Amino acid sequence: MSRVISRVRSQASAFAVCSGVLIAGGFGVGCATEGDDNEPVAFTSAEQEITAVAGDPLPGITAAAFAEAKTHFQTVEELDDGLGPIFNEKACGNCHTQGATGGAGVQIERRFGRFDNGIFNTLSNKGGSLRQLATVGAFTGLHNESCNVPLEVEPPEATIKNRGRLTTPLFGAGLIEAIPDSVIIANASAQPTSIRGIVNRVPVLLPTPGDTTQTVGSTRVGRFGWKAGIATLVQFSADAYLNEMGITTQHCIGGNSVLTFATESKPNGIAQPAGCDDRGLGGAGIPAGTDDGVGSCAGGLTEIQDDVAFFNTFMTFLAPAPRTAIDPNINLRGGTAFNNAGCAGCHLLKDYVTPAHPANGVPGNFTFRPRSDFLLHDMGSLADMIGNDGDTVARTRLMRTAPLWGLHHRTKLLHDGRASNITDAIHAHDGQALASVHAFDALSAGDKSAMLQAMLSD
Ligand code: HEC
Ligand code: HEC
Repeated sequence: MSRVISRVRSQASAFAVCSGVLIAGGFGVGCATEGDDNEPVAFTSAEQEITAVAGDPLPGITAAAFAEAKTHFQTVEELDDGLGPIFNEKACGNCHTQGATGGAGVQIERRFGRFDNGIFNTLSNKGGSLRQLATVGAFTGLHNESCNVPLEVEPPEATIKNRGRLTTPLFGAGLIEAIPDSVIIANASAQPTSIRGIVNRVPVLLPTPGDTTQTVGSTRVGRFGWKAGIATLVQFSADAYLNEMGITTQHCIGGNSVLTFATESKPNGIAQPAGCDDRGLGGAGIPAGTDDGVGSCAGGLTEIQDDVAFFNTFMTFLAPAPRTAIDPNINLRGGTAFNNAGCAGCHLLKDYVTPAHPANGVPGNFTFRPRSDFLLHDMGSLADMIGNDGDTVARTRLMRTAPLWGLHHRTKLLHDGRASNITDAIHAHDGQALASVHAFDALSAGDKSAMLQAMLSD
């Protein structure tokens, strides 16, 4: 009997989702979702709370704690801190700049690789697929060696050359992290087969502190980066510290030492002699060559190296960028046009709502509209053809639906920054999005204009 009652109750709650009241622990979908063609739908969410200023934190963190985390994100690192031997920039905040610290950026990174019989090879033995664009150069090493780190170059073996990756925005990243896998999986099931996306399940190499459902090596749906290749912000932090800045770190998870991010980069695959990789000193209990870490993991310790923990905190609590004012009629006409052109098939016009008690500490029951399904789509000729070792050609054509919020802060669009306005970005879409490009071109001038205005209001 009690079971029957609870079923009736959960059904009633499901209806309540539409009026904005949420099932405890559930993850609702707002009612103004991807509607049928011609159904009027507003581009912006009436529910998404508006931050006053880009760069503000979400509720749930003190101003002092957020400021401290942000300071670490902006800190410029040097040779003695472990910068290098090769790197792209000296601070996270040097790239993520547009709108506020943590925004998108104009830096475009470079990747290369090759196909052998239709199978992707990252050329990791030649320093691929990421080519770091700077070197610490000539310096006196830790033990007075005369060091000179060469600049990484694109090796002649590369057939996929010089592929760009633009710096993406981090506003609202903690909310995206809080989306349960099941919601992203349901996004795929709901899509028509012609545009159905692919769920990118990836191993968690560094779990979100406080999320007991994650362990090292467990699988979670990837959602960060142009290829949705990473599932957690703390892992992205350690990865970026290593790959963007050359700073190696060691962490403890449940008593086990995590050394995945503890090996110095090798320019074009050639390891620099110890002491010539940089002048980071590491510390007691930290493996040789590791710039910073937490040391012994005895006693079941879970601890993230402090810089990485600060980056994680900053990004987790960085709020979505504020929307700008828009005439409600334009908002409705623009959203409807966006929906009719099929854009909302991937850039979902639905509200996501965080679970009641998100494991990463962001506010529960918080509504946001990132306009992405967080799935991978075949982008045809737009794709960068970069993948992981062993990927098929088709796999390297997959790109994550880019979230469409904070667009008014951006000066470059698409994974390689090739577009500088929305219309050009639309026309570069290919593959699964080609029909949508044609539908956009067929819109009336008034609908197009309303759509672009609505898109630039967020
Ligand atoms: C040289 C410029 C540069 C620096 C420095 C840099 N990033 Fe990034 N960041 C990028 C680029 C480029 C991307 C897109 C990467 C991709 O998907 O290939 C990115 C993406 C990200 C993302 C994924 C966001 C999303 O869209 O899903 C996170 C998180 C991130 N960076 C965090 C950091 C942190 C933390 C640091 C400092 C340790 C950092 N970044 C330093 C350029 C940079
Ligand atoms: C089949 C799924 C799909 C459809 C349909 C689609 N997009 Fe996209 N969109 C993507 C993907 C994937 C990317 C990332 C592409 C890349 O840069 O490699 C993207 C990127 C973008 C970007 C660039 C965002 C950024 O951060 O640089 C804009 C703007 C955009 N889409 C707008 C639209 C509009 C407007 C429409 C409708 C005319 C549309 N898209 C239709 C999947 C789709």
